Amino acid sequence: MVKTDVQQIKQRFGIIGHNPNLDRAIDVALQVAPTDLSVLITGESGVGKETFPQIIHQNSARKHGQYIAVNCGAIPEGTIDSELFGHEKGSFTGALADRKGYFEVADGGTIFLDEVGELPIPTQARLLRVLESGEFIKVGSSKVLKTNVRIVAATNVNLVQAVGEGKFREDLYYRLNTVPIQIPPLRERGAEDILLLFRKFAGDCAEKYRMPAIRLDDEAKNLLVAYRWPGNVRELKNLTERISVIEEDRDLTGPVLRQYLPDLNMEKLPVLVRQDPDQKIFNSEREILYQVLFDMKKDVTELKKLVHDIMTGSHPLVPEEDPGYSHPINARPMPMEPHIQEAEDVVEETLSLEDVEKEMIRKALERHNGRRKNAAADLKISERTLYRKIKEYELE
Ligand SMILES: Nc1ncnc2c1ncn2[C@@H]1O[C@H](COP(=O)(O)OP(=O)(O)O)[C@@H](O)[C@H]1O
Ligand SMILES: [Mg+2]
Repeated sequence: MVKTDVQQIKQRFGIIGHNPNLDRAIDVALQVAPTDLSVLITGESGVGKETFPQIIHQNSARKHGQYIAVNCGAIPEGTIDSELFGHEKGSFTGALADRKGYFEVADGGTIFLDEVGELPIPTQARLLRVLESGEFIKVGSSKVLKTNVRIVAATNVNLVQAVGEGKFREDLYYRLNTVPIQIPPLRERGAEDILLLFRKFAGDCAEKYRMPAIRLDDEAKNLLVAYRWPGNVRELKNLTERISVIEEDRDLTGPVLRQYLPDLNMEKLPVLVRQDPDQKIFNSEREILYQVLFDMKKDVTELKKLVHDIMTGSHPLVPEEDPGYSHPINARPMPMEPHIQEAEDVVEETLSLEDVEKEMIRKALERHNGRRKNAAADLKISERTLYRKIKEYELE
């Protein structure tokens, strides 16, 4: 049972998803908010770390104080001390006047140090001091000042590893990591969350561009869920927006979606989640590879056919005028090309699974000068199977 206050936080901050680890992260944020403890938020890029320091600030006694978010990775090393702690007039070229740093401005409030692993070592020393005693010194000054700031930090790099490599102070790591909050990567959040987020982003886009929301068929859903999402929610959001703007057909099918997903990042190979009526049971990697090749070949053939149809004018690039909504991209028909005959004879070309297998066996035999034992080892099949296949495909 999810706590009602976690639900409220999700609504208030627009957090979508039901993953228990995500709920736990929100719960920890709520528990720790009223204290002044430092919090370290960890998680891959794009998982949604930036909402958490705000949840913490808004649910603390500091909520009427300043909230300042600093991206430590975006500030040049030469100016970061001055930005964080301020400087005195004349402390360096260009320091024309005294300047207050974030730690002075946010006195009584919260500072969010995003990408904290990027802080230069000298700045880490200053930060440790302010965390431990509230004391800091402006650049070019010798006067010790005091401030009362709550720190929430975030990182997508492994700080323990950074400590091991001497890039991050161990004492600072322990000081920041008083309360750790881990945000799960999207691929571990489960199918429901991925689809919920897609629906949310597709809905937002539909509203923005005043057109029907993109909907997924079963195959597209499976693909979306199987994808690894290295860029997490940010990547899903961008992808959904791109598809919403580009695709005219609002019912998204698997093959269309597949064109948007980089193949290398498929966690499971796409063929495994296909719901073809004649779904095959794959019992070896080799067979999966055949199927992938086969699918690719099919896609290429379909593409060729599409190009051919477009060039011969039998496929309209611009759909019939639909008064329901106007598409943001103005597709124009391509000029007719003269070399269309060639396309004709490739359209019917297909490559069966057997063709692929036959070709692989032929190549392996060639590589090993006909030595079947070696070819079989290369193909990772038994010699007996190889004999059978050679006979079957009449490769002798
Ligand atoms: N659970 C979620 N629900 C809705 N949007 C989310 C969620 N998590 C992340 N986002 C969105 O994904 C994008 C990336 O989030 P962000 O906090 O910038 O990631 P990080 O700081 O971890 O790299 C933002 O646009 C954010 O609004
Ligand atoms: Mg971020």
